[in-house]
Amino acid sequence: MDSWNRRDLLLSAAALGAPLLNAQPKPPITGRPLRVGFIGTGARGTALLRTTLQFPDVVVPAICDINETAAARAAALIERAGQARPQVYGATGGVDDWRRLVARADLDAVINAGPWQLHSAMSVATMRAGKYAAVEVPAAITVAECWDMVNASEETGMPCMILENVCYFRNTLLILNMVRQGLFGELTHCEGGYQHDVRFVFLSTGGDRGPAGELTWRGVHAASKNGNLYPTHPLGPIAQWLDVNRGDRFTHLTSMSSKARGLAHFARKKFGAAHPNANREYALGDVNTTLLRTASGATVTLYHDTMSPRPYDLILRVQGTEGIYMGSLDKFYFDGRSPKEDQWEAPDAYYAKYEHPLWRDLGPKAAGQGHGGADYIEMHQFFKAVRNRTEAPIDVYDAAVWSCVFPLSIQSVAANSQPVEIPDFTRGKWKTRKPAPISGA
Ligand SMILES: NC(=O)c1ccc[n+]([C@@H]2O[C@H](COP(=O)([O-])OP(=O)(O)OC[C@H]3O[C@@H](n4cnc5c(N)ncnc54)[C@H](O)[C@@H]3O)[C@@H](O)[C@H]2O)c1
Repeated sequence: MDSWNRRDLLLSAAALGAPLLNAQPKPPITGRPLRVGFIGTGARGTALLRTTLQFPDVVVPAICDINETAAARAAALIERAGQARPQVYGATGGVDDWRRLVARADLDAVINAGPWQLHSAMSVATMRAGKYAAVEVPAAITVAECWDMVNASEETGMPCMILENVCYFRNTLLILNMVRQGLFGELTHCEGGYQHDVRFVFLSTGGDRGPAGELTWRGVHAASKNGNLYPTHPLGPIAQWLDVNRGDRFTHLTSMSSKARGLAHFARKKFGAAHPNANREYALGDVNTTLLRTASGATVTLYHDTMSPRPYDLILRVQGTEGIYMGSLDKFYFDGRSPKEDQWEAPDAYYAKYEHPLWRDLGPKAAGQGHGGADYIEMHQFFKAVRNRTEAPIDVYDAAVWSCVFPLSIQSVAANSQPVEIPDFTRGKWKTRKPAPISGA
């Protein structure tokens, strides 16, 4: 589209997705593939790259990782997918070489799956270079970093999407659709947890992550910080169910951690009682419990449990005046509607009737992709926004509010569980912003 005017574009943007924050709309990208750069091609970056390479209209001309093996693996994957060998940054250029990737004139978007402490700086630089940013979770680890991202997005009009793939799980989108259709009545409480035995990501098992038994970058965080260090997997979908930033907002939280035992215990069993990491103090309590409250009075219980031997369970309970969903069971109960009083109902009939249109449209293509297909749908939605030059489906305010639980839970734990206020990153816009309509691919 060569000739266009602002009004036409605003109209077409409404059809394609939400218009950009404070920005002159630009015409959609047509007639060429999207050009996407990657920073951080470790475990998650590689998985996201594999997903990206499923999209025939996306190319990856540039990647960056300071680890030569990780960078070479990513470059080989791209070539094997039939694309030109990408320009590789980082491996020989050092820890700031990602800035050269971000500055390239040819990229439309940069996907960033580096360590937590680099997320915000990389996303801010990406937006300030006029590109769409996509950032792994959590998007930031200090409140100042959250504001930096909000300010960069507002000042440049460039979107920043937190890659919270749990928002694209089949059950979380089903629940979103059912919440919007009023099946649960008014929501009063949700519960979620990142309850995942990931002891192996804190202490290296060798290979890319350094000598076996050493603290990884995530282990360094666990050794020095005590709170909920991974809030967004459960909090993302919960915040969407509760219309947080779009009619409601989180006002404050309080947080408490158990004693820290799991990692030292694990190090003892895995690397021997004499290993230094079997004998050090870890700040991070094994189980952190954080309570959040919204302006309208809904509450959320959030667990962080990554050091305990246990099966994976995000809980994902949603409680309303008319009924409840319990994600751990994948079961429902509705007042006066469920066939048997006080008894859980299987989900099949609800999936048949209320499947989210995204899953109806993309489910077959997503099958077999990462996280039960959610990674495919997530990247599909990101690329759609980049191509249409509309706001990302999960925006910078969501990234900031969901991620700020990381530093604020640490603050509350350190202050004997004192309540801590959650900033209003929307600066009042939450009162008038509307939830995104439920729509298909
Ligand atoms: N959404 C999900 O399901 C999911 C799953 C796993 C991890 N993650 C997130 O993905 C991110 C990465 O985690 P991971 O497990 O892949 O870690 P990882 O350590 O395997 O990968 C991080 C990569 O970043 C590279 N890196 C470090 N500093 C760099 C720099 N200055 N410039 C360029 N590259 C640099 C490292 O060499 C490494 O290859 C984290 O935010 C994590 O929380 C998300």
